[in-house]
Amino acid sequence: MKNGQIWYDVDGNDIQAHGGCIIKFGNLYYWYGEHKGGPNVPNSKVERVDVIGVSCYTSQDLVNWKYEGLALEADKSDPESPLHPSKVLERPKVLYNEKTGKYVMWFHSDRADYQFARAGVAISDNPKGPFVFLRDFTPNKQDSRDMTVYKDKDGVAYLFHSANRNKTMNVARLTEDYTNVDGLFVSVLPDQEREAPALFFYDGMYYMISSGCTSWNPNAALYAECPHLMGKWKLIDNPLEGKDARITFYGQSAYIFEAEGAFYLMLDHWKPDSLRYSGYSILPIKVNPDKTLTVPWQEEWLGI
Ligand code: DGJ
Repeated sequence: MKNGQIWYDVDGNDIQAHGGCIIKFGNLYYWYGEHKGGPNVPNSKVERVDVIGVSCYTSQDLVNWKYEGLALEADKSDPESPLHPSKVLERPKVLYNEKTGKYVMWFHSDRADYQFARAGVAISDNPKGPFVFLRDFTPNKQDSRDMTVYKDKDGVAYLFHSANRNKTMNVARLTEDYTNVDGLFVSVLPDQEREAPALFFYDGMYYMISSGCTSWNPNAALYAECPHLMGKWKLIDNPLEGKDARITFYGQSAYIFEAEGAFYLMLDHWKPDSLRYSGYSILPIKVNPDKTLTVPWQEEWLGI
C-alpha cells in the first residue's frame, strides 16, 4: 500500500475511512473512519462532503481490509439530526467498555459551517455496529472540534478535544461507561492551537502527536509529552523525518495504534478539492533511547 495514496479494500473498492482509528478487538483489527465517498458540496464555506456515516473495515494483517459496512449511518430522514447528511461528522474513535460490554464511538459533530463544535457519542453491542446515536454536546460546556479518545492502562478513558476555539487542547475524563464526561477536565497546551490529536504511552511517558490548524492544508506536526494524562503537557518538536517532514509529508495525524508491541501513526492526506480521494499513510514511530520520538517517511505500508 503506497503511503500518501488512496488505498483499496479486498474487493478493489477505495477505502473510505478518513480521520479514523485502528483498534484490535479479539483477533481482528478494526478500522473506523469517515465515509467521504461522495462529491464535494459546491459553494461550502469549508470544503465538505455530505455525511454518509462511519465505515468499518476488518483485517488480520493490517493490509488486507474487508469492508463491513457503515457502523454508524447518516440519518436522511431528520434535517435536525446531527447525523443528517448536511452536517459534519469527523474523526470517529471507538473504545470497548469492559464494564458494560458496549462499544462506544466518539466523534466531532458539527454544522456545515463548523460553528456548532460538539462531541457526538454512539454505542453498540457489536464492533461492526450498528451504533446507536446517544447525544451530541459540548463536553464540560466547552466547544469541541478535532478530538480523540484514549483508554488508560487502568481502564479509565479520556476525551482529548481542541477547545476554546482551538486555542487549547482539553483533556476530559469520561464516565465509567465511557458515554459522557464526568466533569473533571483540564485545558492544556494554552495558545498553541493544536488539532488532530493522537496518543500513546511508552515507558512512563504519554505522547501526543498533533497538527496545527490550517483547515485541510498540511502543516508541521508536533509532539508533546507528559508523565500524566491530565498534567502539564509540554510541546517538544516535530518528530517527522525526511522530505516534506515540515508539512507532515502532506498529511495530518489521525490516530496512533499499537500492534505487536510497536506504535504506528496513521495520517490522512487530504485532497481538499475532492475529499473522497484523500489518501492514507501508516508510519512506525520510533521512541529513541533519550525518549525523543522519530517518525521517518516510508514509501509503503507493508503491515506488521
Ligand atoms: C482540520 C481538521 O483536522 C479536519 O478534521 C477538518 O475538520 C478540517 N480542519 C476542516 O477544515
